[in-house]
Amino acid sequence: MKELERLAAENARTAVMLDKMGRRREAAEKYREAVRLLTKVIQRTEDPIMREAYEKKLRRYRKRLEALAEPLSEGGEQANTHSKSEDDFIVSNPPSITWDDIIGLEEAKKAVRESIIYPTKRPDLFPLGWPRGILLYGPPGCGKTMLAAAVANEIEAVFMQVDASVIMSKWLGESERNIAKIFSLARRYESEGKPVIIFIDEADSLTASRINEVGGEARARNQLIKEMDGLLDKGRNTYIYVLAATNKPWLLDEPFIRRFQRRIFVGLPNYEARLNMFRHYTRMLDLADDVELEELARMTDGYSGADIHDICMEAQIKVVSEFFEKNVGGDRPRKITMDDFLDIIRKRKPSINLESMKRMLEWASRFGG
Ligand SMILES: Nc1ncnc2c1ncn2[C@@H]1O[C@H](COP(=O)(O)OP(=O)(O)OP(=O)(O)O)[C@@H](O)[C@H]1O
Ligand SMILES: [Mg+2]
Repeated sequence: MKELERLAAENARTAVMLDKMGRRREAAEKYREAVRLLTKVIQRTEDPIMREAYEKKLRRYRKRLEALAEPLSEGGEQANTHSKSEDDFIVSNPPSITWDDIIGLEEAKKAVRESIIYPTKRPDLFPLGWPRGILLYGPPGCGKTMLAAAVANEIEAVFMQVDASVIMSKWLGESERNIAKIFSLARRYESEGKPVIIFIDEADSLTASRINEVGGEARARNQLIKEMDGLLDKGRNTYIYVLAATNKPWLLDEPFIRRFQRRIFVGLPNYEARLNMFRHYTRMLDLADDVELEELARMTDGYSGADIHDICMEAQIKVVSEFFEKNVGGDRPRKITMDDFLDIIRKRKPSINLESMKRMLEWASRFGG
């Protein structure tokens, strides 16, 4: 029973953290697990006051879970101002990420700024037009989504997040209509004077279907291509940008790739970036004196930003769990030691494999730049 309760709390804590970072799908998974465990706890709890407390928690997790499960609509206080039918597409304020939250990636940041921010601020300086399609590619967990959110924040754009894999799976056969709807909604926002960023996550799932093309996928891709060409119509400055992200660029087909005139590589953090990430993510943690962040940064060559974030989070969860389990007294968990980190890193391999890194570089040498 105690163990159940502890696990429930641990999942909920992780869920909240992931949620805050905008990692919705992973957050939903953790919330779901927390709900499952907490339900068991409630079944075994007799004390009415405790029960009530648990049930209150349970309701809160469920509510958030529902908001997260709605694949393309943002729950909570950032609810959009448009009608219900448009909730099908996430129209939300982007997660509140700024350039300063993004560690390293100086070149990628610069490329994104050049492509979006300058033309939006001074269209008069771009007599030959500017690209509307920008592809962010690179290994998972290295900041693609963060970059998209930061740029949307800076130009105060309407941020329409489109998860390609969701569009393709859930509305199979209707996916091209959904894409048309997204763009028509974008044009409407734009006509109200706001720049719009259509962020297509997991873009490879739009074209990855050549093996098994039943029709819907091809039509969806063609629709997207048509809409993107429409953005480049002469004689008018449009402020609708299509930002696509993928960690499997080699699955994209050439007509699709060509629509993305800017292709920006978002790569693994180098030593300095990793060190800064460790500094950043341990800032709020209580570290013992023996923790050497430089050493941790050296050891984590090949790890992504998300890996480093998770290592720090796990270290914190470790001491907190111990605190609850062992009940050693005191009012707070012990400090996190170097051994805690080493333990976690030893068990946790980088989430990026060499094979896909090789393919990434091959692709970059053909299409990148
Ligand atoms: N450059 C970075 N600076 C700071 N934190 C980072 C960086 N890259 C990744 N992270 C951490 O990893 C998390 C995931 O990053 P993000 O969602 O931007 O990755 P991604 O490249 O979009 O990955 P995926 O391809 O899996 O969607 C962030 O929320 C952040 O905690
Ligand atoms: Mg992402």
